[in-house]
Amino acid sequence: MLFENRAAIVTGGARGIGRAIAEELARLGAGVVIMDPGTSKDGATAEGATPAEEAAEAIKAAGGAAIVAAESVSDHDACARTVALCKESFGSVDILINNAGVLRPKMIWNMPVESWDVVVDTHLRGQYSMIHHAAQHMRQQRWGRIVNMGSEAWRGTVGGANYGAAKGGVFSLTRAMARELGKYGVTANTVCPAAATRLTLDESVKEGFRKRLEAGLVTQERYDAVINMGGPEHIIPLVSYLCSEAAANVNGQAFRAEAGRVGIYNDPEIKASLVKAGKEVFTLDELSALVPSALLQGYVNPAPAESE
Ligand SMILES: NC(=O)c1ccc[n+]([C@@H]2O[C@H](COP(=O)([O-])OP(=O)(O)OC[C@H]3O[C@@H](n4cnc5c(N)ncnc54)[C@H](O)[C@@H]3O)[C@@H](O)[C@H]2O)c1
Repeated sequence: MLFENRAAIVTGGARGIGRAIAEELARLGAGVVIMDPGTSKDGATAEGATPAEEAAEAIKAAGGAAIVAAESVSDHDACARTVALCKESFGSVDILINNAGVLRPKMIWNMPVESWDVVVDTHLRGQYSMIHHAAQHMRQQRWGRIVNMGSEAWRGTVGGANYGAAKGGVFSLTRAMARELGKYGVTANTVCPAAATRLTLDESVKEGFRKRLEAGLVTQERYDAVINMGGPEHIIPLVSYLCSEAAANVNGQAFRAEAGRVGIYNDPEIKASLVKAGKEVFTLDELSALVPSALLQGYVNPAPAESE
């Protein structure tokens, strides 16, 4: 089996995409730690171990090995405990799926600082904490696979700056981890999924979209695409591939996964430059004249000012 004698931690593994990944890794032979305190969609309340235990029971019923850490990735010490639990229970820490996530959308002028902190803590600081602790083992054993869940939101989003910024951080964190850990046989990649879960397509989201369709704010085509979005089953093959031996040389990349499509994002790069001989300081007049013609060709403002 692909992951025989491998041990994996899946954060947020009690529900949605994380649960599907945990089940798949276990089906392919890995011992799995499901790290999940069973939070509400916004992270404000937690059910405790029950959802993670249900996921672990399902894995065991299918013949796999799973244990539960009903802990939060926002707690740095809890991340250390979970990594230690994986090592004690399964003998190693080979695969880390940083998948835990919550949403607290608001426009920036209405966003309370607590919503910023909770979202950034869960998605970005949580991934740092898990990697920080897991990397000790992965470096030592000179083998590891880290998959960080990103989102299309990293490219720019409206009404979720906390989430988009955290996922942008995930993108950069992954690229840094690839460079720091690669030489030890550890890879780190980002996966930006689209899948129907309670996060993306619960009843309130469906209702909101139906109202927007009726108000003419979204097209029927867009509405149908959202309502018929595929499930987490479309995400797990890419994650399994990235955790496999076959992907030993795939490192620091960001992938998109959705129903019927797997893509890869461009590496960010400087696409055009103005260069001053002798490294002289540009004048404001020079930049006003040259930036539009030399750097901004083909550029479209994503949100031009509306006239009153
Ligand atoms: N579903 C999508 O289309 C989609 C799109 C883009 C990105 N993502 C990302 O994929 C990941 C999984 O999302 P999902 O749609 O499966 O969501 P989900 O709500 O179905 O599952 C998220 C899980 O994370 C757990 N969790 C929340 N806070 C946690 C914490 N502090 N510590 C540990 N676990 C915690 C929750 O209890 C829950 O079980 C998230 O990182 C999300 O941002 C999902």
